Amino acid sequence: MSGRIPQGFLDELLARVDIVELIGQRLPLKRAGREFKALCPFHDERTPSFTVSPRKQFYHCFGCGAHGDAIRFLMDYDHLSFRDAVEELAARLGMSLPESARGQEESGAELYRILARAAAFYRAQLEESPEARRYLESRGVDRALAERFGLGYAPPSGDRLILSFGKETAVVEALIAAGLATKTVHGLRDRFRARLMFPILDTRGRPIAFGGRLLGPGEPKYLNSPETALFHKGRQLYGLWQARQSGSLSRLIVVEGYMDAITLHGHGFPETVATLGTAVTGDQVELLFRNASDAIYCFDGDRAGRQAAWRAAEATLARMRDGRQAKLLFLPEGEDPDSIVRAQGGEGFARLLEQAVPLSEYVLQRLAEGVDFSTIEGRARFAERAEALLARVPEGAFRDLFAAEIERRSGHRRSFPRPAAAAEDRGPRRRLARTPIRTAIGLLLQRPSLAEDVDAEMLEELAASDVQGVSALIELISLARDRPSLPARALLAHFEGRPEHRALLAIASLEWPDSEDAERKEFRDALLQIRKQSLTKRLALLRERMDAVAGETPEADALEEDLRKTLRALAALRAQLGSGS
Ligand code: UTP
Ligand code: MN
Repeated sequence: MSGRIPQGFLDELLARVDIVELIGQRLPLKRAGREFKALCPFHDERTPSFTVSPRKQFYHCFGCGAHGDAIRFLMDYDHLSFRDAVEELAARLGMSLPESARGQEESGAELYRILARAAAFYRAQLEESPEARRYLESRGVDRALAERFGLGYAPPSGDRLILSFGKETAVVEALIAAGLATKTVHGLRDRFRARLMFPILDTRGRPIAFGGRLLGPGEPKYLNSPETALFHKGRQLYGLWQARQSGSLSRLIVVEGYMDAITLHGHGFPETVATLGTAVTGDQVELLFRNASDAIYCFDGDRAGRQAAWRAAEATLARMRDGRQAKLLFLPEGEDPDSIVRAQGGEGFARLLEQAVPLSEYVLQRLAEGVDFSTIEGRARFAERAEALLARVPEGAFRDLFAAEIERRSGHRRSFPRPAAAAEDRGPRRRLARTPIRTAIGLLLQRPSLAEDVDAEMLEELAASDVQGVSALIELISLARDRPSLPARALLAHFEGRPEHRALLAIASLEWPDSEDAERKEFRDALLQIRKQSLTKRLALLRERMDAVAGETPEADALEEDLRKTLRALAALRAQLGSGS
């Protein structure tokens, strides 16, 4: 286990770090009086409620409640462990961890060390292999470029890497855990043999995995490290470290292959990264936008490329917060960025880049494919498809403009409610409709104190109504009223393990207003709507029964009396709700 980091060191670290500068490198901060403001990176919003205080050296979001110091920010924003965040800050400030904290190492440290040593081994082997060097040359990669990417060569024989480490059991286990060696029927073997080696670096420049390419024909052309404790394909972007080293980034070009990335770096596009041969994931999109505000995806013009583009578009739409831009570029069939740059130079590629299509335009084009806009059915189909996608786009200027464009093209005024922003990766894929019950529940889960507004009469009426979900609502109200100190999270936790829990989670992940006044008003309206629903239901029931009991019996009289009362209550309620409700 890792040695504890002494409190004195943490204090010193936090005293010296400038949180405004740290956050300012990741978010566009605007001065507002003594503090700085930005759109909160931890929830979707359109007006900034995220503040950074230079005096107090901490940040606070009035929207979602996120707050903390520089260490907390790095942990949450860069997804670092506590220790990594501390190390990162210390490195920034040129401070080194005290001996006591270093004594024993973090659990991943041995893997990192092994991977770094393997990378050095492969680099040295490249020097020894004229064949591999000739291959690189043939692909236009000079020595400087090869060094920038730490390229190497894995020799053909079965266990040279393993032997270079020595064969102690502990080392062997670590080599397997690092994805560098595999057990075979012939014993332990190097995973990579006779391949050009591309180290995959994490955001701190440490090798965490490798891709290896055969120098000639054969299968598989590229072999990659397996997923390990350190390496998750879908969360990495090849070349990002080198791109970051090249200076501050305003955009990132995303290509599919290792060689594409390297060649582009070598031809004046150091802002290039590559996915690792898989569809663009949500994690990768986040990583992209954390490093640059603009992304340009390059895809082959073939069928596979078009498919990959659509998946990338979907993953990106769900993350189009304000300030972010995405474009897509389709290359001529049979070409990839590497072949284009090699044939037409950097200028040729730059010209192509200008033809990149904005994400919204691309998505609308795809949705319009095969749609006959001259018919109502066609336009309805288009509107429906678009609506489903729009529901995943977080609130903001992009969403508004995109929605307006959909309306314009379909001629259909959208009537659907506000989106389940960012619920995509958490909750069920289908957006929940906003019923009054769900609204009341959602608001309560966000601000339990709203329960105080519910008077005894209302509670009784709720109890008498049989609208679906009302029992969960009553339970929540009672819970919040009985225990006012209970935080919102605890309310949800109360339902854990029960069938309602899932539904409550989905409701909680919908977007709710963020001012207390708005919450109160919506909550009150929702309760009135629930009452209206239950009264309407009761009315229908009474009418049914009256139809059944004919004549002037006492029972009919009682029913009629009841009906009048219900009608009066409903009328009063309608007046309260205002016209139109
Ligand atoms: P490509 O086959 O398009 O590779 O695969 P490329 O980069 O153009 O390769 P060169 O130019 O022939 O050297 C794109 C990416 O898909 C992954 C690799 O990450 C590759 O860079 N891939 C491809 C694999 O992981 N395994 C394979 O067998 C092929
Ligand atoms: Mn290629």
